[in-house]
Amino acid sequence: MTTTTPGPTALRGAVGTAHTRVEGRDKVTGAARYAGEIPFTGLAHGWLVLSTVTRGRVRDVGTAPVLGMPGVLTVLHHGNAPRLRTDYVGMLGTRPDPTAAVFQDARVPFADWPVALVVAETPEQAREAAEALVVTYDEEPHTTALAADDPGAYSAAGHPPAEVGKDLEAELAASAVVLDEEYTTPEEQHSMMEPHAATARWDGGRLEVVDSNQGTTWVRAELAAMFSLDPASVRVRSEHIGGGFGSKGLRAHQVSAVMAATELRRPVRVVMTRRQMFSLAGHRSPTVQRVRLGADPDGRLRVLDHRSLNRTSTVFEFVEPSASVGQVLYAADAHRTASHVVRLDVPSPTWMRAPGEAPGSFALETALDELAVRCGADPIELRLRNEPETGPVSGLPFSSRNLAACFREGARRFGWADRDPRPGVRREGHLLLGTGTAAATYGAGAAPSTALVTAEADGSFTVRIAPADLGTGARTALTQIAADALETVPGRVRVRIGDSDFGPAMIAGGSMGTRSWAWAITAAAAELRERLAVAPDIPPEGITVRSDTTEAIGALARKERHTFGAQFAEVAVDTATGEVRVRRMLGIFAAGRIVNPLTARNQLVGGMTWGISMALHEEAVRDRNTGRHYAPDLAGYHVATHADVPDIEADWVDDPDPDDPVGIKGIGEVGIVGAAAAVANAVWHATGVRQRHLPIRPDRVL
Ligand code: MOS
Repeated sequence: MTTTTPGPTALRGAVGTAHTRVEGRDKVTGAARYAGEIPFTGLAHGWLVLSTVTRGRVRDVGTAPVLGMPGVLTVLHHGNAPRLRTDYVGMLGTRPDPTAAVFQDARVPFADWPVALVVAETPEQAREAAEALVVTYDEEPHTTALAADDPGAYSAAGHPPAEVGKDLEAELAASAVVLDEEYTTPEEQHSMMEPHAATARWDGGRLEVVDSNQGTTWVRAELAAMFSLDPASVRVRSEHIGGGFGSKGLRAHQVSAVMAATELRRPVRVVMTRRQMFSLAGHRSPTVQRVRLGADPDGRLRVLDHRSLNRTSTVFEFVEPSASVGQVLYAADAHRTASHVVRLDVPSPTWMRAPGEAPGSFALETALDELAVRCGADPIELRLRNEPETGPVSGLPFSSRNLAACFREGARRFGWADRDPRPGVRREGHLLLGTGTAAATYGAGAAPSTALVTAEADGSFTVRIAPADLGTGARTALTQIAADALETVPGRVRVRIGDSDFGPAMIAGGSMGTRSWAWAITAAAAELRERLAVAPDIPPEGITVRSDTTEAIGALARKERHTFGAQFAEVAVDTATGEVRVRRMLGIFAAGRIVNPLTARNQLVGGMTWGISMALHEEAVRDRNTGRHYAPDLAGYHVATHADVPDIEADWVDDPDPDDPVGIKGIGEVGIVGAAAAVANAVWHATGVRQRHLPIRPDRVL
């Protein structure tokens, strides 16, 4: 079932072979430069100042003493910053988050809201002055805690509830087995290794921003709109990225850097600190989810009713669509899913790896496990009994659906057949052992992109696409894809990325980047080969073909397009301390054609590791009284460390996408989906104590 592959030196057929990252040597030797460390002559440094109150208005920014401090060049705040345009709808269909459109008015809608930027000759001078800056406020009362019954909860226009099939309450009343439970997940932070950083400068009438982001043309479009500039006069570069996970779009650092560079007429760099990222970079909202299931005695679902609630800020609406996972996974006679949102005095949440599916699958896949117990059914059998023929809500056919194959292969390799279903009966000294499983799914889409492919006079090829490689290995995968499409070897292909001048393309997000760019590269390469077949002479400047996949992707038939997976976990629970240790994890995925088994495994194992972290550790705790985080840093916010991560294996079944030129589906997010539920279900199996609230802290186990 595993993709077996010829070695990396094969003359043909690079796709499907293990290939180390093409920029790997540059990264480990430090030759690869990140946005916060690229040198510029005359560089000035900005330091963001964040509000110390949770809600209110800025009364005064005491700039005078600070302007006299060593090296200080300027202090930007709402009283002197240029006015920005914020009434546009951006590339991703939303208005900009005012958290990024900094210094436009005196209001403070949440704790650690940006109120000023201090710019100085050195980062140390900027920081010292920023810490000395006295900002006074008129404080207002605030509410930051999410409650299931908040009267302010509403259904967002972009995320309407879905209800199909028979009458839900009647079906529930007629169900032999009924489950009605509440599940919660906490605020979670995607605190990627590389903090947000941008350097802005004016260069011969063009604005250049060297930045760490998930889409250079996306950030370019936002900056151009906000500053009322011709997009052609803005260039955004983003060559190496140390993680994005959904948070690296337009944020306060780029906007404030552009403001300062414009005022000072010199390059200005703004880097977020780790602590600033906790409020300025977005996060995953806590969720409160109610799942009601009604089933026949054999576990066939009559009712699937999943309602999720998340909180957003008062300035930006972000819905974590947690309930939507059931729209893909299970058929039911009465099917209702709704993701609601409530506005509180908290920072704006954003996309965080598998937004919706990650917390949603925790609730739904735990509920399915509970239902299996109540029906006396095996949890895998129960899931297979509820496999839908078509999209449970849409009625559309699946492009391919290999969830059952994942469960079969996973069960075989994990040794599921030997499992004693009874909870709390496997002892090893003071430990209780258990195993659990859960399903995973994530959307598999493609979005219009352009690529430039050049046949060079020396016989090599250059490929250009605008977005960046977040660290996933996308650049390497694209090298392999281009090599195959050009009928050459990866060593003759140079992939250049991370420059908005290369033309519009899908961002590195939504598990859609590599697939979307591969499509464009394949199209351009095909045309280039046709041209070379007719006229093989290459001029010194090379021959360049530009592709645009808008039409091809627009012509795709409407189908349910998803990846799937089966997660398995084994845990040991200490009966004295309540400590949970994951002993092993296995994920088997149906995720399209795997371009590079090495980097794909990295991605999937990374997602599963994050699932362990989500299950057992991650929780950003906000003080109800102050509305602020107790510990906004990686000392206070626990993430899984090496000692927490055991033997994890990810593998896949054959599942090429029938409608994709390369067969790709996209693997960026499916690895985390269901992973926390598999761990939670294993904890139940070990102890008999059901875990409906994350993280599974010792006090929740004992
Ligand atoms: Mo991902 S959360 O779409 O960057």
